[in-house]
Amino acid sequence: MCGIIGILERKNVAPMIRKSLKRLEYRGYDSVGVCTVHEGKLHIKKDKGKIDEIHARLNLDDLPGSVGIGHTRWATHGAPSQVNAHPHTDCSGTLALVHNGIIENFQELKNKLISRGHVFKSNTDTEVLVHLIEEEYKEGVPLEEAVRKAFQHVEGSYAVAVVSTKEPEKIVCVRKESPLVLGIGDGALYCASDIPAFLEYTRKAIILQDHDLAVLTRDGFRILSLKTGEPVEREVVTIDWTAEMASKGGYPHFMLKEIHEQPYALADTLRGREFYIGLISWLIENSKKVFLVAAGTSYHACLAGAYMLSRLAGVATIPVIASEFCEKYGDSVDSDTLVLAVSQSGETADTLNAVRYARKRGAKIASITNTLGSSITRYSQVYVLTQAGPEIGVAATKTFTTQLATFALISLKLAENLGNSAFDLRAIREELKAIPSLCEEVIRINEPRAQQLAKRYSTYENFYFLGRGISVATALEGALKLKEISYIHAEGYPAGESKHGPIALIQDNFPCVFVAPNDVTHPKIIGNIMEMKARGAKVISVIEEGDREVEELSNDTFIIPKGVSEVLTPILFVVPLQLFAYYCAVERGADPDKPRNLAKSVTVQ
Ligand code: F6R
Repeated sequence: MCGIIGILERKNVAPMIRKSLKRLEYRGYDSVGVCTVHEGKLHIKKDKGKIDEIHARLNLDDLPGSVGIGHTRWATHGAPSQVNAHPHTDCSGTLALVHNGIIENFQELKNKLISRGHVFKSNTDTEVLVHLIEEEYKEGVPLEEAVRKAFQHVEGSYAVAVVSTKEPEKIVCVRKESPLVLGIGDGALYCASDIPAFLEYTRKAIILQDHDLAVLTRDGFRILSLKTGEPVEREVVTIDWTAEMASKGGYPHFMLKEIHEQPYALADTLRGREFYIGLISWLIENSKKVFLVAAGTSYHACLAGAYMLSRLAGVATIPVIASEFCEKYGDSVDSDTLVLAVSQSGETADTLNAVRYARKRGAKIASITNTLGSSITRYSQVYVLTQAGPEIGVAATKTFTTQLATFALISLKLAENLGNSAFDLRAIREELKAIPSLCEEVIRINEPRAQQLAKRYSTYENFYFLGRGISVATALEGALKLKEISYIHAEGYPAGESKHGPIALIQDNFPCVFVAPNDVTHPKIIGNIMEMKARGAKVISVIEEGDREVEELSNDTFIIPKGVSEVLTPILFVVPLQLFAYYCAVERGADPDKPRNLAKSVTVQ
């Protein structure tokens, strides 16, 4: 995820900006840039690469001036490169801007700006912002007013900081759906994506809200409404976190932070990218065989994805574990085959191996990944990026739910194209829009329960996670989360299959987690719960609000808001299981961010 910093000081800011960017490194990035304003000019250094390496090559500290902005870029639109690195400048070289977020309507804005004579240097969505401000930045208009007017045309998420050679002692920043905080120092002001960026300089901060515009000058700061330009009041808070806590946004672990980031990650994933979603659904429609290939959590997303494609669009696809693909299906791969590979990192060796193999046999390759520029994107004719931002905890959380959201978009598009769905597709699209806020509610309701239940159950050594239909994917993922970070043995199973063997292990107090949404499988899963209960199992269930029947059969429950369509249930039902796994690991003294023997990206076969 991009990181931004702006500093207005009484001394040279370039070395401070570099240090602040180092503190934002944990957010993940591929490029770096710094801009200072001095003697009527912008002074910019930027490139692709890591801060230390770029600093060794270019010396980021020798930019002159006491006002400046800096940026670490996590590529979304446009590959990592020098030209795509921020800051971006306008045509006249007056304005420089850094941005974190995604501009949804950038193409439309770009076309308009080009027709008005603006010349673009990069492939980023961000660059439209600086040209838009240039349009409004006429004689006599202060920078903050030009920024305010420009952002009336912008759709999407943004945290932005802008400087101008015409007003060299000013930084203007705005925020919507991407984090931005102000730091209030002694004769100095800061703006940043996150508090650690300026924690060394000040502990006084203001957390800006959506649609806030802040103006930093030598005389102090003002916060205005981006919509109306009227002043708004925000509280100054004193931060008592350690630097380490601060890098995790105040959370004790990255995994917990990333679980909490899911509403934003989902919102970002659900906006835009329709063109690529359309291409992938077209490829599915026009291929005789479609394999969904992935490892681990991404494979679980494929299981749910296959279900969505089948239920919504009536299209059968085959989910395959990547390391099994060549042996199991290799001979059947040909030019009528589509391999849709799913990989958060885009670097998993098993998945890449399957993709390379399928390519050699003439198959078409599409992918869903979280990492622009990763190997998988180079092998794919088309790819869709999930917009989860970097995931630092080894256990996949926000990347799983954003993969599910992407599958939902592809399935809906395909179903709309085919035109024979039994479902009300428009209603499901509407529901999907509400998923980010529902996810927030799920976290709010279930986090205290997960803490409580972890205290009660973390001493058990074996668990079953059971579900039916699309919830098999959720159950498998819940089991994987628990086992990999808390080291409790957990097995996920289709609930119907449990009586064909697994039930032999059930005796008094054996914990069984049931994923039990109110969908077509509900009557049958009640039977499965009873079978387990009759043999002494402890039943923990994830249910919809008001599901008295399953609640009465359960020892403990996690509650999900009512009325979510079956195909979307995994996105919400998995969240309490992520929280439960996290708190079990904490109870057992394990580090959830760094489970033993595991790596974030598995690059060996
Ligand atoms: C589990 C987990 C792994 C990954 C798997 C595939 O929490 O993170 O199971 O899902 O190694 O990784 P990607 O998606 O990067 O291909």
